[in-house]
Amino acid sequence: MAWKLHFIIVSVPIVVLCVFGEQDFTDLCPIRKRYLIGHICQKACTKDQDCPKKRMKCLCDGECGMSCVTPRSSCPWPVILENANISLNQETWNFGDQMSVHCNPGFKTANGQAMAQSRCQGDKKWSVTAPCDAVSTCNDPLAIENGFFVKNGYLIEGTLVEYKCHPGYRLEGPAFTECLENKTWSNNGPTCKKVYCPPPPEIKEGILVAVKKVEYEVSEVIYYMCKRNFFMDGSHSVTCLPNGQWSDGPACRARCKVPVQRSQVIYQGRKVWVTEIDEGLVHHAENVWFFCRNKTQACSYTASSKCFDGMLQPPECYEEPTWVQYIFFSKNVVSEISSCQEW
Ligand SMILES: *[C@@H]1O[C@H](CO)[C@@H](O)[C@H](O)[C@H]1NC(C)=O
Ligand SMILES: *[C@@H]1O[C@H](CO)[C@@H](O)[C@H](O)[C@H]1NC(C)=O
Ligand SMILES: *[C@@H]1O[C@H](CO)[C@@H](O)[C@H](O)[C@H]1NC(C)=O
Repeated sequence: MAWKLHFIIVSVPIVVLCVFGEQDFTDLCPIRKRYLIGHICQKACTKDQDCPKKRMKCLCDGECGMSCVTPRSSCPWPVILENANISLNQETWNFGDQMSVHCNPGFKTANGQAMAQSRCQGDKKWSVTAPCDAVSTCNDPLAIENGFFVKNGYLIEGTLVEYKCHPGYRLEGPAFTECLENKTWSNNGPTCKKVYCPPPPEIKEGILVAVKKVEYEVSEVIYYMCKRNFFMDGSHSVTCLPNGQWSDGPACRARCKVPVQRSQVIYQGRKVWVTEIDEGLVHHAENVWFFCRNKTQACSYTASSKCFDGMLQPPECYEEPTWVQYIFFSKNVVSEISSCQEW
């Protein structure tokens, strides 16, 4: 609320000023300067009647202030300025019309800008007639060993140039250098140091197939093997990366003991007693199907469980038969009753 009130109080005088300003241009026109270079002022005036000729009007002529000018008088067109691209802001080139002077890349106007607005004056000349000048530039920055710099466009004051190292080298020192006012560079760039990897990591139950060294070069590849009966999960090799670290290596996964003694399971597509499985162990990532009992229908159905690195948990529905059930009611052990699918 307080903000809104403040806004109204501030904006009212601005609106009033604009309305009055539009009706009386003399308020906005600069007062004629005493000495002007390159602009010949016409007769000063305050109203049209002050002008010597009938077709003249008392209009604002930039720094000359209110002057007697011929409104239809035109400036030269086309205009060619060195190192610049010129375009009219409107279709005509009469008194008061404007053209834009865009300096080519690497050049600037007399005031050091990339562009300027040029106005058609009462003396039939454009207000900006000077060509664009070359911006002072730095020479290329110093080259570095095992690296390079990235240059985009002109190396003018304030330009930052970025250094990069070749793959396998690490940048140490300033990555950027700046073109200074005195056409020197703020620094001589970084150094690129060769990257090494430390000895590759040990892997549990794995064996490194390599000559042991203190450091390894980028792109060097080292192989792993898993101990007998361990399954290799992941890439069997690691590579020394440009950041000085090894790529992800493998894990050696253990086999799983099937936690069932008194019923059969389905393993590798066959219904077997666990004693029939080699060493009673299944491989990492292998599935084993267990028999579960549907108590209401008195039938069996299967549910699977996967071996993961030595861990094989039977599904929740599986119940291990007791020794009594196994010995005296072996026909009624869950894996031996009829399958629910047969119903
Ligand atoms: C000159 O300016 C025009 C309009 O802005 C633009 O279309 C044109 O590409 C420019 N030419 C050069 C050489 O910069
Ligand atoms: C250029 O300017 C920088 C910073 O102002 C200064 O340290 C350096 O000595 C100057 N170099 C020359 C050659 O004048
Ligand atoms: C047992 O079988 C019946 C009929 O097929 C079914 O509706 C029920 O959900 C099953 N129970 C279990 C615990 O699987």
